[in-house]
Amino acid sequence: MSSIRPSRLAYGCMRIEGDAGKRAVRTAVDAGYTLFDHADIYGGGTCETLFGEVLRESPGLREKILLQSKCAVRFADDSSPARYDSSREHIIGSVNASLARLGVEQLDLFLIHRPDYLMQADEVAGAVAELKSSGKIAHFGVSNFSVSQIELLQSASDEPVVVNQVEINVHNIDALKNGVLDQCQRLGITPQAWCPVAGVAYPAWGNTFSDEDTARIRAELAIQSEKYNTEDWLIALAWLLIHPAGISPLVGSTTPERITAATTALNIDYSREDWYRLLEARNGQSVP
Ligand SMILES: NC(=O)c1ccc[n+]([C@@H]2O[C@H](COP(=O)([O-])OP(=O)(O)OC[C@H]3O[C@@H](n4cnc5c(N)ncnc54)[C@H](OP(=O)(O)O)[C@@H]3O)[C@@H](O)[C@H]2O)c1
Repeated sequence: MSSIRPSRLAYGCMRIEGDAGKRAVRTAVDAGYTLFDHADIYGGGTCETLFGEVLRESPGLREKILLQSKCAVRFADDSSPARYDSSREHIIGSVNASLARLGVEQLDLFLIHRPDYLMQADEVAGAVAELKSSGKIAHFGVSNFSVSQIELLQSASDEPVVVNQVEINVHNIDALKNGVLDQCQRLGITPQAWCPVAGVAYPAWGNTFSDEDTARIRAELAIQSEKYNTEDWLIALAWLLIHPAGISPLVGSTTPERITAATTALNIDYSREDWYRLLEARNGQSVP
C-alpha cells in the first residue's frame, strides 16, 4: 500500500488528450498534485492509455503518485445502449481493463462512478472484497452517491467508503444541504468536488443562473478577488476549501498555467464572512 499522501487538490484526467494532455499531467506532477482521477469511460479509455504512456516515459513517477479510477457507467456500443452497471462482472472486467491501460498493478482508489438503480449492495461489496484481496485496489469509494446509498453499500461491505466524489461549486450547492457533506464529516469520508469552478469560470452543467445572477456573483467576486489579490476562479476554489468537511477539488483544466495557479488557492486565508457574502450573492438574498 502506498505511503503517498493525497494532495488537497486532485488532478482530474477527464480531458487529457495527445501531447497537450501529457504536458498537463507533467505540469500537475511538478505543481505538487499527487492524486490523479480517472474513469474507465474518459475519452473512451484513451485518457487512461495516455496516462499510462506518461508513466512509462517517467521512471519512478508511479511510486510518487496515487491513481484513482472509477467504473459503473457503460457507454453505448454496438451491442448495448448506455447503462449504469455495478454488476460483479462489469466491475471486475472494468478494473482489469483500467489497470491494463494504465500499465499498473494496483489502483490506489477505486470508485463506483454513479449509483446504479439496480445496485445489489452485496454484489458490489463482494466484487470490492475480491479486488482488494487480489491487490488490484487499495481503497474503495463512490461518486455521486446519496447519503442513503452510501449507508446501504456500507451496510454490506467491510471495506470503508473513503471518498464520495460529487459536483460541488458555486452553482451546485446540493451537497451543502442534502447531508452528503455532513455524512463525510461524520464518517471521515473525503468529499471530492468535480467541476469545482463551474458557475464562475464557465456555466455549470444544467445552468440555471440568469444574467442577473451572473452579474451579481461577478460583482461580489470582483470585490473579493481584489481583496485577496487573486482571481475569481481561485476564490471559487477557496470557497470550497474552507468547508469543514475538507473538500478536495478536482482540477480538470488542461492549461498548464491554470493547473499551477490553482494551487495558490490553498494559500488564500479566506474568511467565513466572505464565504457567506458569496453565498448570498449566489442566492440573490440574505441568509434569513
Ligand atoms: N464523478 C463524476 O461524475 C465527474 C463528472 C465530471 C468530472 N469529473 C472529474 O472532475 C474533474 C474536473 O472536472 P472538469 O474537468 O469538468 O472541471 P474544471 O476543472 O472546472 O475544468 C473544466 C473546463 O473548464 C475550463 N476551465 C478551468 N478553469 C478555467 C478558468 N479559470 N477559466 C476558464 N476556463 C476554465 C477548462 O479548460 P482548459 O482545459 O482549456 O483550461 C476545462 O475544459 C474531471 O477531470 C474528472 O476527473 C467527475
